[in-house]
Amino acid sequence: MVSSLLLCVVALITILVTIWIRKWRNPKFANGTLPPGSMGLPLIGETLELLFPSHSLDLHPFIKKRIQKYGPVFKTNFAGRPVVITTDSEINHHLFLQEGRSVEMWYLDTFAKLFNMDGESKPTGFGAVHRYVRSIVLNHFGTESLKNKLLPEIYTFVDLTLQKWTNQDSISVKESVASMVFDCTAKQMIGYDSTKSNEKLSEKFTSILQGLMSFPINIPGTAFHRVLQESKKITNMIREKINEKQKIPNKTDQDLLDQAVREMRTEAFVTEDFVVHFIFGALFASFESISSTITLAFKLLSDHPRVVEELRAEHEAILSKRDKSEEGSSSLSWDEYKSMPFTLQVINETLRLANVSPGLLRRAMKDIQVNGYTIPAGWTIMVATSAQQLNPKTYDDPMAFNPWRWKDLDSSVISKNFMPFGGGMRQCAGADFTRAFMTIFFHVLVTKYSWVKVKGGNKIGRTPFLDFGDGINIKVLNKE
Ligand code: HEM
Ligand SMILES: *[C@@H]1O[C@H](CO)[C@@H](O)[C@H](O)[C@H]1NC(C)=O
Ligand SMILES: *[C@@H]1O[C@H](CO)[C@@H](O)[C@H](O)[C@H]1NC(C)=O
Ligand SMILES: *[C@@H]1O[C@H](CO)[C@@H](O)[C@H](O)[C@H]1NC(C)=O
Repeated sequence: MVSSLLLCVVALITILVTIWIRKWRNPKFANGTLPPGSMGLPLIGETLELLFPSHSLDLHPFIKKRIQKYGPVFKTNFAGRPVVITTDSEINHHLFLQEGRSVEMWYLDTFAKLFNMDGESKPTGFGAVHRYVRSIVLNHFGTESLKNKLLPEIYTFVDLTLQKWTNQDSISVKESVASMVFDCTAKQMIGYDSTKSNEKLSEKFTSILQGLMSFPINIPGTAFHRVLQESKKITNMIREKINEKQKIPNKTDQDLLDQAVREMRTEAFVTEDFVVHFIFGALFASFESISSTITLAFKLLSDHPRVVEELRAEHEAILSKRDKSEEGSSSLSWDEYKSMPFTLQVINETLRLANVSPGLLRRAMKDIQVNGYTIPAGWTIMVATSAQQLNPKTYDDPMAFNPWRWKDLDSSVISKNFMPFGGGMRQCAGADFTRAFMTIFFHVLVTKYSWVKVKGGNKIGRTPFLDFGDGINIKVLNKE
C-alpha cells in the first residue's frame, strides 16, 4: 500500500518535472515563430557553456557553434533569462537604430531602481539622464577637448609611463597598461593625481572587476565581500572629492567632476548620489576595454614585426617633416594626428580582433520581427558584434592580423560590419578619446622605445570576455 502510494508520488513528480522541462525548452508564444535554438537546462539555461573559457582569439565557440547549427539568429537562455542572439549585420544595424523605440538598454531596470525612477517617469527621465551623461563625457573626452587640451596631456602621460617601464626588468603588460590608462582618465574625470596618492586606485578597480566574477556571498573572507568593501572606499573617496569641490569651487572646470558639481546646483536629477554612481561607472567604462585592446596590440605587434616597421616609418616621417621651430616638440599636433593612414588601419585591425565583449545587450520593448522570426517583448537581445567582425564573408582570413586589408574595404561595408564602439544613439562616448590615446601610445612607443617579449601571451582566449590567461611580460628599452 505504502510502496504503491510512493510509486504514484514519484510518477506524479516525474510527470510534473517532464512538463516543466518541456515548457522550459518550448516557451509558449502565440504571435509568430521563435528563432531556432535550445533553452538549455531549467533555471541555468545555457549559462555554463557561455562561461566555458576558450583558448583562442576566434569567436567564442558558444556563438560559433550555434551559427553553424541554427543560422545567424537563434535563441538561448542565460541564468533563467530568455535571450535571442543576433549575428547578422543588417539586423544588428537596424537594432541599433531602434534604441528607445523597440529596444532599450538592458540594465535600465537596475538603474531605474537605483534612482527610484519607476513606471511613468522612466522613459522621459531616462532620456534626459542619458543626454546629460553623454554630453558631459563628450565635453571632456570628445574631439574639441582632444584638439584643445588632451593631445599634449596624453603625450606627456604616455612618455613618462614608458620611461618608468624602461627602469624595470620586465613589466606585466595588462596591469601596467591598465594603471596607465586609469590614471590618465581618472585625472580628466576627478582630478586624480596618481603620483600624489598613496593608495593605488587602479589596483582597487582591477580587484573589483575580478571580484565581480565571483560568487555573490557577502561574508567576511569572500571575494564578493572584498568587492563591496573596496567599492565603498571608492565611492567614499568620490564623495570627499565632491565635498572638497563644493567648498572651494573653481571658476573654470579643470575636470569632469568640476562640471558635475557645478550642475548639482542647477539640474534637479544631478544629486550627489547620482554623481557618485555615474563617476564610478564612467571610471569603469573608460579603462578596462581600452587597456585590454592596447595589451592585445602588444601581442599582435610582437608577432608581426613588419607591421611595427611600417608604423615606425610612418611616425618617423612625421617627425622629419617638422621644421626647425617645431623640432623636439613633445607632442603631436592635431594636423599630424590626422595624417596617419597606416596607424588608423592598425587601430581598426586591433579593435576588429579584440572584441573585448562578445556583444551588447538590449531588451525588446515590444515584439520584434527579424528574418521571419519574432523576438517577444521582454526578452533580452544580444547584438553579437563580435560575430560580424570575425565573419569570413566580410573579412578574408578573419583571424589574420592584417592592417593592410583596410585599404581595400569599402566604407559601406565597414559601417555595417565593424562596430567596436556600438552604434546609434548609444555609440561609445569615448571612441575618439580611445583612438587618440592608442595613436599617441603607438607614436611614443615606436619613435622613442623598443621592446622585447619576456614571456607569456600564448594563452589569449575568451571567457567570454577577452582574457590574457597568464598575461604577457615585456621589457621596454630606450631606442638608442
Ligand atoms: C577600446 C576602448 C573602448 C571600447 C571598445 C568601448 C566600447 C563601448 C561600446 C560598445 C559602447 C556601447 C554600449 C552599448 O551600446 O550597450 C560604449 C559606451 C560608452 N563608452 Fe565606451 N568603449 C571604449 C572606451 C571608452 C572610454 C575611454 C570612455 C570614456 C572616456 C568610454 C565611455 C563610454 C560611455 C560614457 C558610453 C555610454 C554612451 C551612451 O550610452 O551614450 N568608453 N563603449
Ligand atoms: C499579438 O499581436 C497583436 C498585434 O501585433 C497584439 O495586438 C496582441 O496583443 C498580440 N498577442 C499576444 C498574445 O502577444
Ligand atoms: C583653479 O584652477 C586653477 C587653474 O586654472 C588652479 O591653478 C587652481 O589651483 C584651482 N583652484 C582650486 C581652488 O582648485
Ligand atoms: C576605421 O574604422 C572607422 C569606423 O569605425 C572608419 O570610419 C574608418 O574609415 C576606418 N579607417 C580605415 C583606415 O579603414
